[in-house]
Amino acid sequence: MIKALRGMKDLTFEESERFVHIVTTATTIAKRYGYSYIETPILEETKLFKRSVGESSDIVGKEMYQFEDKGGNDVCMRPEGTAGVVRSFVQAKLDRRQNEKFKFYYYGPMFRYERPQKGRLREFHQFGCESFGEASVYEDFTIIQMIGDIFKALGIGYKLKINSLGCPECMPPYRQNLVEFLTECKDELCEDCNRRIETNPIRVLDCKNEKCQSLLVNSPKLIKNLCSSCDDDFAKLERLLKSENIEYELDTNLVRGLDYYSKTAFEFVSNEIGSQSAIAGGGRYDRLVEFLDGKSTPAVGFALGIERIMELVKMPEVKRSGYYLGAMDEEAIDSLFPLASKKRDTEKVTVEYAPKKLKAHLKNADRVNARYCAVIGEDEFKDRTIWIKDLVEKKEVVVAWEEL
Ligand code: HAM
Repeated sequence: MIKALRGMKDLTFEESERFVHIVTTATTIAKRYGYSYIETPILEETKLFKRSVGESSDIVGKEMYQFEDKGGNDVCMRPEGTAGVVRSFVQAKLDRRQNEKFKFYYYGPMFRYERPQKGRLREFHQFGCESFGEASVYEDFTIIQMIGDIFKALGIGYKLKINSLGCPECMPPYRQNLVEFLTECKDELCEDCNRRIETNPIRVLDCKNEKCQSLLVNSPKLIKNLCSSCDDDFAKLERLLKSENIEYELDTNLVRGLDYYSKTAFEFVSNEIGSQSAIAGGGRYDRLVEFLDGKSTPAVGFALGIERIMELVKMPEVKRSGYYLGAMDEEAIDSLFPLASKKRDTEKVTVEYAPKKLKAHLKNADRVNARYCAVIGEDEFKDRTIWIKDLVEKKEVVVAWEEL
């Protein structure tokens, strides 16, 4: 038997219903916030992700589904959605329309060759939003509010963590300070952190190693060394969150695993799904459009992990709906189709093609969760009528075909 690859899953029945419910709910809310749908290819040139997500990130360094295609191009299955959307934004020359704002939402599969475990897949699905052209921190707030709305509509509890990653003015001097601090305690830090001091010192801050974390308690904090513009924006964001009663926690070690962020960074976590607790993440990435050869354009966005949210979502009760149509004799089967076709204009309809006894039809109707079981028996066929049972109200009627 051929099985799906490790870390990749089929979605069927109840699970696929959950998936569709999450995408539909998120789509409805994103549209209310002015987002329109964008679809970008799953396969992109590898250099797109190297330049955006960053060569020193784990995603690019260790986790890419990268290969040479038949034309000799170095390509990669997207590990995340933002890079492709920004590439598309620049390719469509939307970066030249500097006075306009563009808001896109997307959902689809992402691929990361990670070690599979609960909540961590190699193929997983994200729903994401990217907003271009708005430099104001009000937009960061609005995006956080939108994610809150999505989780509220899905009936999911969460904890919001926020941080600021500064800008090209305040980040480099901070990074220098941090490198000096880390170099002093180098011997006590883990192997990964030692490597990161050279390649990406900021990532040391979210090392999961307990010993490293205990050393980092005394590390310099970027939040205390922000330039006045970043500091003002962060204060404004905190003020807005408080005034809207959105609970949050300042997490000075929240740095995100992708290199394109500046200023606001945030993560939504759940304590109900085990160690892979991040259910959504995002932030501002004002320099990415420029990194990808576009005209400098401020941008902010997020993505949520659909499979992780599937673990949490409470599904609305599935009510009985629509019609089940059957006949007791072969000669009546043909008559079911015009009736089904008429009813399908407004309702779900299931037609049974084989003649069966009434009891078997009722059992089938129950199995497909129909509200009405409608059957043409011998007498009904002669009279051009149909027997209908309402499986909720438990009432029965016989009506003419024209009246169904
Ligand atoms: P990310 O934090 O890497 O951000 O991923 C977003 C979400 O995808 C995570 O919070 C998590 O729920 C889910 N996720 C990530 N990896 C896996 C995995 N291996 N298995 C299952 N779920 C996973 C981004 O991807 C950014 N592009 C978000 C963004 C958009 N920032 C700005 N705009």
